[in-house]
Amino acid sequence: RTVEWSLSEAEKSGYPHFMLKEIYEQPRAVMETLYGALNDQLIPEAVKLLIDAGKIYVTGAGTSFHAAEHFSITGTKLAGKPIISFISSEYDTYLPATSEGDVLIVVSQSGETMDSLKALRAFKRRGARIISVSNVIDSAIPRESHITLYTRAGPEIGVAATKTFTTQTTLLTYLAVRLGEAVGRLDVGEGKEILGNIGSAGSLVKEALESAEKLAKKLATAISRSSSAYYLSRGVGVPVAKEGALKIKEVAYVHAESYPAGESKHGPIALVENSFPVVFVIPNDSYLEALLLGNIEEMKARGAYVVGVGPEGSRTMELLNEFIPVPKAHWALTPVTHTVPLQLLAYYAAVEKGFDPDKPRNLAKTVTVE
Ligand code: G6P
Repeated sequence: RTVEWSLSEAEKSGYPHFMLKEIYEQPRAVMETLYGALNDQLIPEAVKLLIDAGKIYVTGAGTSFHAAEHFSITGTKLAGKPIISFISSEYDTYLPATSEGDVLIVVSQSGETMDSLKALRAFKRRGARIISVSNVIDSAIPRESHITLYTRAGPEIGVAATKTFTTQTTLLTYLAVRLGEAVGRLDVGEGKEILGNIGSAGSLVKEALESAEKLAKKLATAISRSSSAYYLSRGVGVPVAKEGALKIKEVAYVHAESYPAGESKHGPIALVENSFPVVFVIPNDSYLEALLLGNIEEMKARGAYVVGVGPEGSRTMELLNEFIPVPKAHWALTPVTHTVPLQLLAYYAAVEKGFDPDKPRNLAKTVTVE
């Protein structure tokens, strides 16, 4: 049971697949989530827990882990509090360092993922307070948490997560801003700017959809011919690039590797030859953009087929083989502005190859086993 969506929402309503329908539901889903958050008395409580926390951890699996990583970046940068992210099945690493007064944020769309539930239980036993972010009311993870913040994405039927990622990251960016304000670390003007952007998250996603639809189809044809691709970025763009790579692996079975672009020269570039597809996520941040220019050049020099998703007017445009412009917004909103083209790319690549993107082989929507 999700928040305030009727059963009929769970039908395809004219779309060929749930995945495409759910991609297109994102403008509404992010706004519903935001309205929910604005009225949620648990947000100030969550902020208080985080202010008082010894250490702050954030975890999840699959797509939810990418949302967790994004919160680790925004929370750390906007609130000046180091936030440690880890994949939920790897919780054992940090467990011995955890004690009373620490906080673990567990991100889980379904609220039932066993790896994440086990991390929650283990941290709770050591005295950590648990905040969860879930899309399903009263699922196992919310039931065992001290505080749950709900995304309001409505039911997600496609196995590959789409709208739940953009809603998770919208909600968690809002939390990071509230935390930054509460600790007095976030400049008032910058806080206002981010909140203004979050307030128009729906139109930002809509613009990104409109801009990406045509080009994503064309690029999907090119990428689906390749057995392998890199998805690269820096900083706040890294979890988004990882999410793009995960999508194309999940539904189009293209082997895709994602890593922070600075690492190319330390190994992965050895694989790059003529026409090797490299997708760059270029956040709206001039420092990161300048660094990425160098990475794009090094890939181009080896003949890579270089695609960029970045803010309109980006300096990288000239160098790229293809550029998908997304609306300009504060860098913290990168998942909201930049994810949609990558989802469409994966979707159309799957369709092009004749696969059903709603039912990828070997994958389950919710993994309730270890
Ligand atoms: C499964 C799904 C993924 C999802 C992951 C975490 O592996 O196939 O799409 O991201 O579980 O799910 P959760 O419900 O915890 O967000």
